[in-house]
Amino acid sequence: MEPEPWHKNAVVYALDVETFSDSDGNGVGDFRGLIDQLDYLNRLGVSALWLLPFYPTPNRDNGYDVKDYYGVDPRLGTLGDFVEFVHEADDRGIRVIVDLVVNHTSDQHPWFEQARSDPDSKYRDYYVWVEEPPPPDPERGTVFPGEVEDERVWTYDTSADAYYFHRFYPFQPDLNLANPAVREEIYKIMKFWLELGVDGFRIDAATLMIQPKHPDAERLDDPHELLRSLKRHVLAQEGDAILLAEADDAPDELASYFGDSDEMDLLMNFVLNAHTIAALAMEDAGPLVTGLDRLPEAGSGQWLTFLRNYDELNIGRLPASLREDVFERFAPEEGMRIYGRGIRRRIAPMLDGDQDRIELAYSLLFSLPGTPLVLYGDEIGMGDDLSRPGRTSVRTPMQWNDQPNAGFSSAPDADLVAPVVTTGDFGYERVNVAAQRSDPTSLLNWTQRLIATRRECPEIGNGTVEVIETDESSVFAHRCDWNERTVFCVHNLASESCTAHLAVDLARPDPISPTFGTSQLSPVEDGGCEIALDGYGYGWYRVDADQGD
Ligand code: GLC
Repeated sequence: MEPEPWHKNAVVYALDVETFSDSDGNGVGDFRGLIDQLDYLNRLGVSALWLLPFYPTPNRDNGYDVKDYYGVDPRLGTLGDFVEFVHEADDRGIRVIVDLVVNHTSDQHPWFEQARSDPDSKYRDYYVWVEEPPPPDPERGTVFPGEVEDERVWTYDTSADAYYFHRFYPFQPDLNLANPAVREEIYKIMKFWLELGVDGFRIDAATLMIQPKHPDAERLDDPHELLRSLKRHVLAQEGDAILLAEADDAPDELASYFGDSDEMDLLMNFVLNAHTIAALAMEDAGPLVTGLDRLPEAGSGQWLTFLRNYDELNIGRLPASLREDVFERFAPEEGMRIYGRGIRRRIAPMLDGDQDRIELAYSLLFSLPGTPLVLYGDEIGMGDDLSRPGRTSVRTPMQWNDQPNAGFSSAPDADLVAPVVTTGDFGYERVNVAAQRSDPTSLLNWTQRLIATRRECPEIGNGTVEVIETDESSVFAHRCDWNERTVFCVHNLASESCTAHLAVDLARPDPISPTFGTSQLSPVEDGGCEIALDGYGYGWYRVDADQGD
């Protein structure tokens, strides 16, 4: 039997080097600090890291405004530190995925500087220019309403005497990807990082990369061909390196990103993210069943499933009334919301810091089809800082211990790249790695067990998923079948305990103890099974091949 590709059953951990661990006391996390923490990540059990952009940048959008694709931001270390980090990660069997931000550059990138100042420069055509901006298109406004003045996507540049296009902030001019020279640049950038040992790229803003930039813009004849060409270049150089796309697109558009097994390997699962959050908010399995139903087949590709990432939690595609209910429960105050579509809180505060409920949420996530993603700090239930602007509320430094600055940095507070969460239930004196390490009942130790169990259950990542009918609306039960092996998972989304009947025959008389969780699954005489679940109770069960039909 062919081994399954590694990304189908990975556990991915997302972190931003600048907020993870500062080794030299200048207030900014760095690669040497990250190297020092690799044993922590190894013990946690994650198999891949996704690093947010670490390239030289004016840093006006958390590094998503790149001014040099071939370097490391000097605040974070050197290219040598990066290479050492990749080797150290590799020694521990941890893969490294890096962000590739090529929908746009920073306006301080030398390409843009030449493009704007010299109409004859070859770089002029690296960007998208018009003399008069076309009328606004309500479907294609700024991605950041409320943060970009007049919602505009065209900005006048005096030296060019023309308007350039940007779907994000005005300091992020979109690249003209219809220009073959720009595509060649991207292949070169990928080659460079693959040669340094990275295992894949997260393709930032993949959806916007393949959209026409404006009504009269030069169009890619076959937009997905751009993404396929990225895959071909990766394959040619590094057989098992992967591409992960950020494609927050309508569900019926998503399957196309997997192509014919020749395009993206992983897609961030925004569909299931919004529906899982809705199910947790409403304590009702219904939205989750709907979400699974809407999810296209991934074929030989895979979903990257998550509860939270470092952007807003986008619930904009949920039906309006459900969206309002989710806002009401998880972001009741206006200051917790953003862009009219998102929540800017972390998971733990959304779930009132209730450890049972947080565990339920993560157990559920890890049982869903796909490869799970953990946002740094969620393994200890870190909180957010709503006094920080926009999406930065969830980007506070990692809380390592109860020492000053949470052990993140020895710099004076005023020099920190972002303030540490100091007060309230999620302040670092209460929530930190050191305290949780020594407590066997902590969320951290629980998460470590969850990750280990998930890595023992390839049925979830590789198998087919089927929802099991129950008589309790708060109970979500499903089975994952793969290679004649089956794992059943049952989750009670509600705070009330219940006894649920599951429409599944186990063909055996005795109860099954969970592989993970606490409740036993008991076959009942008239067919099906019964399970008594505590409030927010859950269980995963492995059954043999001849059972479970
Ligand atoms: C992606 C990133 C986001 C960034 C944007 C512009 O959506 O996830 O953080 O602001 O791209 O690069």
